[in-house]
Amino acid sequence: MPLILAIESSCDETAAAVCVDGKILSNIIATQKIHAQYGGVVPELASRAHMQHIVPVVDAALKAANRTLHEMDAIAFTQAPGLIGALLVGAQFAKSLSLALDKPLIAVHHMQAHVLANLIADQKPAFPFLCLTVSGGHTQIVVCNSPTDMKVIGKTIDDAAGEAFDKTAKILGLPYPGGPLIDTYAKMGNPAAYKFPEPNIAGLDFSFSGLKTSILYFLQNAGSSLLFKEVFTASEEERRKFIENNLADICASVQARIVSILLNKLKKAADQTGIKYICIAGGVSANSGLRKELALMGEKNGWNVFIPAFEYCTDNAAMIAITAYYKFLEKDFADLAISPSAKAEW
Ligand code: KG4
Ligand code: ZN
Repeated sequence: MPLILAIESSCDETAAAVCVDGKILSNIIATQKIHAQYGGVVPELASRAHMQHIVPVVDAALKAANRTLHEMDAIAFTQAPGLIGALLVGAQFAKSLSLALDKPLIAVHHMQAHVLANLIADQKPAFPFLCLTVSGGHTQIVVCNSPTDMKVIGKTIDDAAGEAFDKTAKILGLPYPGGPLIDTYAKMGNPAAYKFPEPNIAGLDFSFSGLKTSILYFLQNAGSSLLFKEVFTASEEERRKFIENNLADICASVQARIVSILLNKLKKAADQTGIKYICIAGGVSANSGLRKELALMGEKNGWNVFIPAFEYCTDNAAMIAITAYYKFLEKDFADLAISPSAKAEW
């Protein structure tokens, strides 16, 4: 007790998971491939794909957990933030199940769930812990005092870290989502080949839009000595050749800068709060450069570092289930009149 079915549909993954007593029994994800050809997620297509996937995905999660719908003690869903049309599919499905089964409904905040993915493994961080949450839509530093008490102490003022990866990939002519591809090429390149500028942002906030612009100028000048200036010297052909011949070094250098921007702020947050339990979460926490550098920084600073298993880093329903479990313990149930929300601060 309790046995919870959780549904995630905030973006382009239709996912369902079952957990008992905070232990994950199943975690099923249907990734929508259709968006790759458009270079980004198309909201209307995402909603339609969720409609197609949701029944088989929930079925598969129940089967893999070896449980039936009628055994569930609660139904959980991602309420915010996300694409509104995508969220509506999961919300409506969960509400209908809750009504039909006469079981409580639990509304989960997607970003809180990313943080609590760190509580899935047996080895859990102690409270309070710091979490760097880095995804396609968000970049945040969160102080987590308990599973239901969190505070954002730093956030991006423009692009998210995942967006910086994806936009760089797009400029380089790589398909969406480009983050994992940049990671792959970066492993073969020299991170010190090109030095992209680090933004000078006060406090614990982040900025990535300047980096994107400097990459754009750098490529438009085909890596000439003018580097980051808005003087376009290269022809289309020269630019294409430059990218082709230096792809690994460009990816490694961009990745190194994104990672250093993230970790410098995380170090500042750890110093300011004195917290030694440090976690990461969100799709970008799958990045091998970030994982490696965080481990090194943790060793140097005496931190206890926690990184969720790969499958719990990118969007998934197991993180929704674990969050719902802690809400269930506090009897924090949602009204059936609840509706999803595209934006949600907390
Ligand atoms: O958390 P997530 O799955 O979805 C959102 O809630 O946004 O994060 C997706 C983001 C994308 O921007 C994707 O490019 C990035 O995570 N990502 C990566 C890697 N794997 C996923 N970025 C860099 N390196 C990776 N290995
Ligand atoms: Zn996410």
